Amino acid sequence: MAEQKATNVHWHDHRVSGEDRKKLKGQKGAVLWFTGLSASGKSTIANTVDHKLHESGRHTYLLDGDNVRMGLNKNLGFSAEDRAENIRRIGEVAKLFADAGLITLTAFISPYRADRDAVRGLLPEGEFVEILVDASLETCEARDPKGLYKKARAGEIKGFTGIDDPYESPEKPELTLDANTKSIDELADEVIAFLESKGLLAV
Ligand code: ADX
Repeated sequence: MAEQKATNVHWHDHRVSGEDRKKLKGQKGAVLWFTGLSASGKSTIANTVDHKLHESGRHTYLLDGDNVRMGLNKNLGFSAEDRAENIRRIGEVAKLFADAGLITLTAFISPYRADRDAVRGLLPEGEFVEILVDASLETCEARDPKGLYKKARAGEIKGFTGIDDPYESPEKPELTLDANTKSIDELADEVIAFLESKGLLAV
């Protein structure tokens, strides 16, 4: 939990509520939290879901690992503390976006259970959808699109998730995607079918 440093601050209620914004957009807000190893397919699947939802007229926003680390979180590295702060900030941003009525997708390794659970705790019941992008280390290492596993094995990157840094799988994710064998399109459709089954795409 981040320390509340500022004193003498007071919460302001807004005249336009989250409910008002969602009503205007004709949709529900939600956070689709993709988690998994580097190269598991999180970003690609989230991108495809984002595109499909957008094409069907939904208002969405995608927060993606490397992009956020080049802006909002450029002062954070990969220690456990920095990863926790990375996820905390992204969680707070995702909460704001969901309250603005957007279906918000996030694609971060987010390796620590406690950090993900803290984000879940920020959101109203049912609005946090944890999606495990389940690809084995072998699969991810064989893909290695950025050559990072190779560097980690050679000791050129220290503390790389899955090699010499932990990844804690979710115990009860809302959805698990088998990213070892299925295609991106199939998996994106699974996500959308899940959202439909939970009424998250209803007006
Ligand atoms: S997280 O652990 O804090 O959630 P995040 O998803 O933002 O990580 O960033 C992961 C991306 O950063 C990886 O896909 C990879 O491209 C890059 N990266 C660089 N160093 C590391 C590292 N030590 N461990 C994991 N990913 C790393």
